[in-house]
Amino acid sequence: MNLKDKVVVITGASKGLGEALADSFSKEGCKVVVSARSKEALEALASRIGGYAVQADVRAEKQLLDLADKAAKKYGRIDVWVNNAGVRIPHSELNEIDWKRAHDMMEVNYFGTAYGTKAALKYMKKQQSGIILNILSTSALQGRAKSSAYAASKYAARGFTDAMRNEVKEDGITVIGVYPGGMKTNFFDEQVPDDIGKYMDARLVAEKIIGNLKIDTPETEQTIRRPNT
Ligand SMILES: NC(=O)c1ccc[n+]([C@@H]2O[C@H](COP(=O)([O-])OP(=O)(O)OC[C@H]3O[C@@H](n4cnc5c(N)ncnc54)[C@H](OP(=O)(O)O)[C@@H]3O)[C@@H](O)[C@H]2O)c1
Repeated sequence: MNLKDKVVVITGASKGLGEALADSFSKEGCKVVVSARSKEALEALASRIGGYAVQADVRAEKQLLDLADKAAKKYGRIDVWVNNAGVRIPHSELNEIDWKRAHDMMEVNYFGTAYGTKAALKYMKKQQSGIILNILSTSALQGRAKSSAYAASKYAARGFTDAMRNEVKEDGITVIGVYPGGMKTNFFDEQVPDDIGKYMDARLVAEKIIGNLKIDTPETEQTIRRPNT
């Protein structure tokens, strides 16, 4: 796909991978709509890349439908929608899991992805074209000890992604699941892994995601592991 002038919406764009994706899509000449809850960070990013900031909490379906409406009203269409917003809770054994936080994580990581997809499809189905990118994790490929709640939220989003890919393929819409390994972002502020120094730079991961979109037939499942893992 030639990305020039394509309209791209990114959730969870106030920092980390979402921000790196916003920068990279912008360098490709895309019209980028950046969304998250943090207003100031979003506005600073939008002004840096010449994009459009729309505040939204992905746990609220209505806010994502509004995000799609605002993006389409401003730029006329939606070509790429990235469901990137995500949260984690500290690694812990089953008995130590904070269930309130685990429920909230499911709201963001799974329901946020589902609501975002529904909002994007409102426009992509009319266009009979579009790409939906769901940022999952290698934790959606392999259940790791002490990460059961996070893995469950990402496996849920993975199952949703696979089903949606089949549901909309006749509409000219491609649904891509991206499975990154560890990235050095604020994701780990609450519990920093000992080997975070070996984690990937989010900008590198963003470049790989965009590289996949630029080929004629993108991989619909893209795993991006850190070197030597
Ligand atoms: N870092 C890793 O090692 C890693 C590995 C594999 C997959 N991932 C996935 O990659 C994605 C990005 O993670 P990251 O590492 O960039 O994390 P991050 O630096 O913590 O950024 C997370 C983003 O999600 C947004 N967000 C969180 N809750 C939200 C909500 N309720 N509504 C809207 N936005 C919300 C945050 O913005 P606000 O707080 O401003 O709303 C922020 O922009 C996530 O889906 C994560 O699961 C990360």
